[in-house]
Amino acid sequence: MKVQGRPYRTIWQESEGGDVSIIDQTKLPHEFSVVRLGSLAEAAHAIRAMLVRGAPLIGASAAWGLYLGMREDSSDAGLAEACETLLATRPTAVNLRWAIERVGGALRDTAAAERVAVAARMAAEICDEDVDICRSIGEHGAEVIRSTWEKGGRAKPVQIMTHCNAGWLATVDWGTATAPIYVAHEAGVPVHVWVDETRPRNQGASLTAWELGEHGVPCTLICDNAGGHLMSRGEVDLLITGTDRTTANGDVANKIGTYLKALAAADNRVPFYVALPGPTIDWTLDDGARIPIEERGAEEVTRIAGRAESGRVEAVDIAPPGCSAANPAFDVTPARLVTGLITERGICEASQGGLAGLYPERSRGKAAS
Ligand code: MRU
Repeated sequence: MKVQGRPYRTIWQESEGGDVSIIDQTKLPHEFSVVRLGSLAEAAHAIRAMLVRGAPLIGASAAWGLYLGMREDSSDAGLAEACETLLATRPTAVNLRWAIERVGGALRDTAAAERVAVAARMAAEICDEDVDICRSIGEHGAEVIRSTWEKGGRAKPVQIMTHCNAGWLATVDWGTATAPIYVAHEAGVPVHVWVDETRPRNQGASLTAWELGEHGVPCTLICDNAGGHLMSRGEVDLLITGTDRTTANGDVANKIGTYLKALAAADNRVPFYVALPGPTIDWTLDDGARIPIEERGAEEVTRIAGRAESGRVEAVDIAPPGCSAANPAFDVTPARLVTGLITERGICEASQGGLAGLYPERSRGKAAS
């Protein structure tokens, strides 16, 4: 998608054999800064510290991290170390494990001298595939937006609510939850997006509002607590969120607060859709309660960062000194609250049968990669 008119992906290799570049998402929306990753340690740090984030981009970053690891040490020991380091960065997004298994597995069957080239080729493939997948999610999801608009007599923009950032910044391009919005917008279907700020890290305020604005999609930022009220007033036609891991029975882990939105949507009969690429499905689990939930530092809750009047970005305390704080970063929305899963293969019911219908080859082999 475009930043100041120039098309960008979220991750790319500068030149053959060269470093990997990313957009530092911790600096947005105040500064657009591109950072070079030159080592395994830098790639692992970028994932852990959320310079890159969002399930598909975490997977793509892990694949490039393996390439950087192989550049440093392509021995079997180096490969094992790179896989282990990257796997330990963030636990909830299953795309991380998926990418490491896919690239790491192929590298184990590759001679050490070839591993750098094979890792680079596979990481680039994962990125290209992600772009195609997200574009397809966009096309399927845009049909839901278009039919909502048509049912309303094409009288007013479709009001869509989203949580966190499942936009192009969370993938390689297009996004998952935002892809239907971008496709509909480009097709001339009028849309307006309610953007949840998404405490504690404010991915909605700092990333979703920024990327929608850069692309010219009308949106309004709301605090997390406003969603239920807007739904009860009939001001939301549908919700679309992303997911970090969807189990084989259709339970959906996503950014903390998603579950509350799904509850409010069910109470108000507002359709609640989840957009996801195939690699976000964890076929080894059939119960969302078994998804590991990342617990992040208390300071993300007790402090907040923003640009001060001086123009400097500063972090300030918002809680009493020493106040204890819990910070579960994700929650699980049970399949029964999900109206439909929007995938690159079409839209299905959030259920074992629904997912098996779209991915028959995966559901038969369940844990196979
Ligand atoms: O902690 P984050 O910012 O990585 O969490 C991201 C989300 O929860 C996204 O909604 C999810 O990864 C889907 S991304 C297409």
